[in-house]
Amino acid sequence: MGKELINWENGRWIGQTLEVENGVCAVPSTPEGELEYTDAVKAATDHLYKDVADFIPEFEWPAYAPLVHAINTLKKQKNAVILAHNYMTPDIFGLIGDYTGDSLGLAIEATKTDAEIIIQGGVHFMAETSKILCPNKRVFIPSMRAGCSLASSITGEDIKLIKQRYPGIPVVTYVNTSADVKAESDICCTSSNAVAIVEHICAEWGVNKVIMLPDEFLAKNVAKQTNIEVIAWHGRCEVHARFSAQDVRDMREAHPGVVVLAHPECPPEVVAESDFTGSTKAMSDYVSDNSPKNVILLTECSMSDNVAMENPDVDFVRPCNLCPHMKRITLENIYECLKDETNEVLVPEDQRVRAYKAVMDMINVKFDPVKGHFDPSLPQVGVKVI
Ligand code: 13P
Ligand code: SF4
Repeated sequence: MGKELINWENGRWIGQTLEVENGVCAVPSTPEGELEYTDAVKAATDHLYKDVADFIPEFEWPAYAPLVHAINTLKKQKNAVILAHNYMTPDIFGLIGDYTGDSLGLAIEATKTDAEIIIQGGVHFMAETSKILCPNKRVFIPSMRAGCSLASSITGEDIKLIKQRYPGIPVVTYVNTSADVKAESDICCTSSNAVAIVEHICAEWGVNKVIMLPDEFLAKNVAKQTNIEVIAWHGRCEVHARFSAQDVRDMREAHPGVVVLAHPECPPEVVAESDFTGSTKAMSDYVSDNSPKNVILLTECSMSDNVAMENPDVDFVRPCNLCPHMKRITLENIYECLKDETNEVLVPEDQRVRAYKAVMDMINVKFDPVKGHFDPSLPQVGVKVI
């Protein structure tokens, strides 16, 4: 008999232990016994299971618990924190995330933490934002392949050309962009504060026109909420762009009385069919504050799981779309990343300093969170897309 180890397949324990042969074990560098479900691991983790009991079958818990325990132990040893976005799977969100929230919330937490190491439970642009804000901390992303279709739709060179073409008009850049793009921008925004930032920068510059990029749909949704003229870029979120107005009508017919919440990266026609539109945090707060009987979140799949954890009495209809980038972050690669300190995110200092200004100027704008909500009933307005 060869050495026995827990067997992982596609991120799941398949129930029996197998000999390590042809790379069957997903964590080959793990010292023998480190990830076993021992009595000590069981005692340290039993109390956590209830939080994820709706998502992890009890027979699978012995495969999760050793990783959760190892990650939580390493965090203490290394003075590390995990910033977990609302789209992380419930095991990450509920069991190892030190701070959870939307893009804005995680960026603000990065500025506050005393930890020496930040592990970003999210996508690459979020890790870059943490590094931009915390140059003296080491920031890691568990998978370098965790990108974003919006971030890859535009470069810093594009921004330089846009600025040449539209002198005197401020460029408001969604945080879902690379550090290179942020460095060329006048100010950043997130889905929580986009309307407030557009109005703030226009007041500061004494203009009534703004370039808002790279998300065409976010820009169009913002344009409906303000009197400011918005020029947009043609980027799209590959997750939210897939929802259609007809989907919403079909869902309402299938689930009479259901409350429909949408993220502002959805097409404007979808927002117009929703009952409420806001950032991932705003959607989560809406459910907690209003306890709808039955709700649909038009956004990434894990969002409903995570909001359901905190709202057990609400029924969730789940017509979600998966973000392949967010789903590249797993308990296994978080463990590897924290243990081996691999995939460190670095930003060249001259770029970081310029990007810091754009991000910090955003964080310093105080706004009424209600301003971050999108009124679905407002009519569409014309937006030029460049
Ligand atoms: P939030 O800022 O609302 O968390 O959105 C981030 C994101 O990537 C949505 O797709
Ligand atoms: Fe990017 Fe869309 Fe994924 Fe958010 S959900 S990280 S915007 S691709």
